[in-house]
Amino acid sequence: MSEFETILVDRKGRVGIITLNRPKALNALNSQLMHEVVAAVEELDTDAEIGAILLTGSEKAFAAGADIKEMAPKTFSEVYGEDFFSEWDRLSAARTPIVAAVSGYALGGGCELAMLCDFIIASDTAKFGQPEIKLGVIPGIGGSQRLTRAVGKAKAMEMVLTGRNMDAEEAERAGLVSRIVPVAELFDAALETATTIASMSLPVAIMAKEAVNRAFETTLAEGVKFERRVFHSTFATADQKEGMAAFIEKRAPEFKNA
Ligand code: CAA
Repeated sequence: MSEFETILVDRKGRVGIITLNRPKALNALNSQLMHEVVAAVEELDTDAEIGAILLTGSEKAFAAGADIKEMAPKTFSEVYGEDFFSEWDRLSAARTPIVAAVSGYALGGGCELAMLCDFIIASDTAKFGQPEIKLGVIPGIGGSQRLTRAVGKAKAMEMVLTGRNMDAEEAERAGLVSRIVPVAELFDAALETATTIASMSLPVAIMAKEAVNRAFETTLAEGVKFERRVFHSTFATADQKEGMAAFIEKRAPEFKNA
């Protein structure tokens, strides 16, 4: 794994763990951190020994947004010219499932980064928000789109227009997070979840992720057809034979990721 300065990268079994690590800036997402997160995800994504990725921050902050101090002096021609923030799109191309474990602030780009993951497990101290409007800008890493799909127009519009935060309870009620755990248990619970995912057949987990994501890109009829074709494809894997044989023989499956 490459050397990084703004993130920590670790492995536990088949789970790759990326921890945002700019504590003095509450993990604000500067360009270096963006390059490093994208590079680490791409490296883990192409590693056959990794079956799931866990992305987390600190107890106080998952990430308090894009780095305002770095952004403040930029001009229109600079941000437009470099297509500022477009590099984050590369996370959507990752095929390995990515779980976000969020404690404390997930604001602006922090909320958007969590939403770029496949699902979010929140601590009871998590706070989500898109406060960009208070800085005279709007979300720029997909917040207006992904938050709206996650929580619906009413809440997304209110949050994007007023900049108010949601606490963990509201985020769970609204469907932004899959579940809430006490803050002291967040890392272990998220790691257990990622480990469970990594214990499945990797090609089948990738197919499952692709099928769920298709729901956001297509009509219901096309999505159902896509799902059925991918379901049919799972019968081309040795892991389908193994999974079903293990059930019938009342034993745990031994997936070969093939
Ligand atoms: N960018 C740069 N630095 C940040 C930062 C950010 N987004 N958020 C916090 N920091 C820095 C602070 O400047 C401070 O540094 P100094 O000690 O050098 O002054 C340090 O982190 C600690 O922050 P606070 O003293 O403010 O901590 P707090 O506990 O009092 O408040 C907070 C926490 C409410 C999260 C507050 O820091 C805050 O409001 N941060 C900004 C949140 C925000 O507006 N995020 C959106 C950014 S824009 C964006 O993300 C655009 C986009 O769509 C991609």
